[in-house]
Amino acid sequence: MNVYLDNAATTPMLPAVIDEMLPFMKEHFGNPSSTHAFGRKTKTAIEQARRSIAAHLNVAPRTICFTSGGTEADNMALHAGVEQLGCTRILTCATEHSAVLKTAQHLGLSSEVQFGFIALDTNGRVDIQQLDNQLSDGRPTMVSVMHGNNEVGVIQDLMAIGNCCRTHGAFFHTDTVQTMGHYPLDFSALPVDFAACSAHKLHGPKGSGFLYVRDGLRIGAHIMGGSQERAMRGGTENIIGIIGLAKALQLAMEDQTEHADHIRALKAEMVKGLTASVPGVRFNAGSDQPDALYTVLSVNFPEHAKNGMFLFLLDLDGVACSGGSACSSGSTQPSHVLSALGLHEEGRTSIRFSFSRLTTMACVKHALKAVESIRGAAILV
Ligand SMILES: Cc1ncc(COP(=O)(O)O)c(C=O)c1O
Repeated sequence: MNVYLDNAATTPMLPAVIDEMLPFMKEHFGNPSSTHAFGRKTKTAIEQARRSIAAHLNVAPRTICFTSGGTEADNMALHAGVEQLGCTRILTCATEHSAVLKTAQHLGLSSEVQFGFIALDTNGRVDIQQLDNQLSDGRPTMVSVMHGNNEVGVIQDLMAIGNCCRTHGAFFHTDTVQTMGHYPLDFSALPVDFAACSAHKLHGPKGSGFLYVRDGLRIGAHIMGGSQERAMRGGTENIIGIIGLAKALQLAMEDQTEHADHIRALKAEMVKGLTASVPGVRFNAGSDQPDALYTVLSVNFPEHAKNGMFLFLLDLDGVACSGGSACSSGSTQPSHVLSALGLHEEGRTSIRFSFSRLTTMACVKHALKAVESIRGAAILV
């Protein structure tokens, strides 16, 4: 049996998403910028997709700018903050995805831009009092804090962080790549200026996503050379990807609470099985707690002779999971997130199991048995 428990890295596409995309591969090929009927067909489909996505977020369609995914959306937001909105400081967390971290560090190389970290409490959540202190000097600032952490599942309080930013006139970008389609997000009620989304984390296609840009914020070209996406991102649109993204988000939100309940039950079973069978097991940053991202379980295993080979042996047993973020899975380097949270301990090893609505209880039981056979302990399932 092959079991896929790496859904925070990517998710399989749903057949209904593929069906929605197929006509745009087979028949509707017109360039959306063309004024003839072929172009009008694809242009209309893009605008329909934009309206559908915007409705799920309770915002105006013009606030959705399609991108090639989460990395580009994160890049776009931070560059806009510094290059177009006059921010001379970027504050972010040491636990952010590298799409934010590397971009912020790069922008911070400029002598005019200061780059700094926001303090986190022991659970990995933003310390609002400290953020308030940091922003109180009034320096024009872009704050970037992800909603759900892709490695350990910490959920940040967007309302509290956003309100703190508003109080001090700072801009607030949030990477919602791991939570979009998994949690209801109402951007007309949240004090958020930018938010990043990636289709392939919610059973949509790779290479497709968007940046939400709050209404009223005018930002210039992130990619020059075309007037697409209200001149924010030039280049012929990825129509197939956009159609797939909109369908995936629609399907995710249609039965969102049912999906959440299903995944929470799987995760609870995994926590129960591991707790019963692996003495000394821990869950990083409270990822087993009800307020953590329900799709992610970050497990900290005690010392064992096979720890160095654990991921590889799980893979041999048909269990695909990850040792850190997607880019570092399989790597022996301690993850920057676990290091930042002081969770990397010599001898112990961390494995991330991540679930989707397509994961079954049989998958979880198989993974628990695989852990048992590798570590030689009795698992009660
Ligand atoms: C939190 C987070 N942000 C950004 C990204 C990058 O998204 P994409 O793969 O669409 O570029 C990922 C993907 O691993 C992620 O987990």
